[in-house]
Amino acid sequence: MSKKNSVEYLNDLRVRALEGGGKKRVESQHKRGKLTARERVDILLDEGSFEEMDMFVEHRSQDFGLDQESYLGDGVITGTGMIDGRAVCVFSQDFTVFGGSLSEAHAEKIVKIMDLAMKTGCPVIGLNDSGGARIQEGVVSLGGYADIFLRNTLSSGVIPQISAVMGPCAGGAVYSPAITDFTLMVKNTSYMFVTGPNVVKTVTHEEVSSEELGGAVTHATRSGVAHFACESEVDCLQSIRKLMSYIPSNNLDDPPQAEVVPPPAGSEKELDSIIPENSAKPYDMKEVIRRVVDGGEFFEVHELYAGNIVVGFARIGGMSVGVVANQSSRKGGRFVRFCDAFNIPVVVFVDVPGFLPGTDQEWRGIITNGAKLLYAFCEATTAKVTVITRKAYGGAYDVMNSKHVRGDVNLAWPTAEIAVMGPKGAAEIIFKRELEHSSDREAALSEKEQEYREKFANPYLAASRGYIDAVIEPHETRPRLIRALRLLRNKVDTNPRKKHGNIPL
Ligand code: HXC
Repeated sequence: MSKKNSVEYLNDLRVRALEGGGKKRVESQHKRGKLTARERVDILLDEGSFEEMDMFVEHRSQDFGLDQESYLGDGVITGTGMIDGRAVCVFSQDFTVFGGSLSEAHAEKIVKIMDLAMKTGCPVIGLNDSGGARIQEGVVSLGGYADIFLRNTLSSGVIPQISAVMGPCAGGAVYSPAITDFTLMVKNTSYMFVTGPNVVKTVTHEEVSSEELGGAVTHATRSGVAHFACESEVDCLQSIRKLMSYIPSNNLDDPPQAEVVPPPAGSEKELDSIIPENSAKPYDMKEVIRRVVDGGEFFEVHELYAGNIVVGFARIGGMSVGVVANQSSRKGGRFVRFCDAFNIPVVVFVDVPGFLPGTDQEWRGIITNGAKLLYAFCEATTAKVTVITRKAYGGAYDVMNSKHVRGDVNLAWPTAEIAVMGPKGAAEIIFKRELEHSSDREAALSEKEQEYREKFANPYLAASRGYIDAVIEPHETRPRLIRALRLLRNKVDTNPRKKHGNIPL
């Protein structure tokens, strides 16, 4: 038996692998307020559940002195583990080894874990902390990235993919998180950009900090690239665990069922008076959602981006649901498609005052963006339930999961206003002639507006057509939704066979 056959040798190798890029680099990682790749995996997964793979993989480069420098694992830790007892596949880049940069071998490890996830129907969670392509390796590291992008795309809609960005993420490396379902970033320590501030300065003479150019807050508010901007790495890792609690492991699996926790006592009754008397006065739709869902707990996604639409996860009667509320946009479309891909029922709350007209909106493509949400709702075959709380005028009525786009159960509160457009605008158009000839235009307009309001600004015309299944008192919403969701558990609906549709991107 050679020395290499001894258990001591194996244990020595393991110790070497656990050292990563060495004590000094680990200290420097900690000094920046960052955890190491292994510490992150330990926090992410159920205690003691991590099974590492490919611990002894090393790069195969010879150039630029790399034949003299090599680390076991090659800058990425991969393996499987559990989150609340459910299996997941994980990769975690180790910045202490060549700055977590992606070599051919490093990419092969990620590809291997992604392939395993597809075979076994497990979600993939990637913890990114990397200087991008390993510069000494050249094109083979680019090939490695492309191998990952291809798998991200083919896995999309089959298994959930979650990316945490916990350090730099530069160059083309940003495209893998961008293809995945959810991207989480950590405030002040993580960055995503195609080119960093130095290149920006050289090319455009624009001076900008990393945080401003591509930090967590920038991407969570301005670009929408990040779904979550987390306060710390621990917050980020715990948010991933929470997110996982709402979603199934793959597109054939059911989301986890939880204990039923009613909303805080008395809060359902408060729904009856939540809509202000004056229909122009705003109220907070999130307060409605919290009074309907289990434990009043709403896990909001994309909270800081496009505030006119609210999306997120919750449970109703222990069943996981995706909640969509208010206005149409890109953000809503992507969320609905995620829920549909994984058969998570969608519950839609509607109160949309209408589109903000004008050049700004038109030139920024309100038509295409609105069409994305429309397409997503039309295409979705998951359980679809709608509650109209107040305004559902015009396009917003059609788009927001109306009966006509295959809404399964459509409810309205007595405060609902369902018509082609708001009373003032409508009166201005249909009574244009009369108003022109009236001696007191303002008074005449207000009278006509009132006439229109009386006739159309209510849920009963829609209900008389069967477009609304029932008009309900607000406090009845939760029990109604629970029954609807139970009824729809075994819903089957299909779309025509096709290669794929062409969503207006
Ligand atoms: C090899 C790298 C590396 C890389 C960092 N390192 N990036 N090694 N390839 N891409 C190494 C450094 O040499 C250093 O090694 C260690 O990682 C830590 O890096 P520092 O620069 O000391 O750290 P810091 O000051 O924190 O800066 C981090 C950084 C910076 C912002 C990521 O290193 C950087 O700008 N790196 C290059 C980023 C980049 O341009 N990458 C290529 C992008 S193009 P030692 O031995 O000193 O610890 C790309 C194409 C992908 O990725 C295309 C896919 C389609």
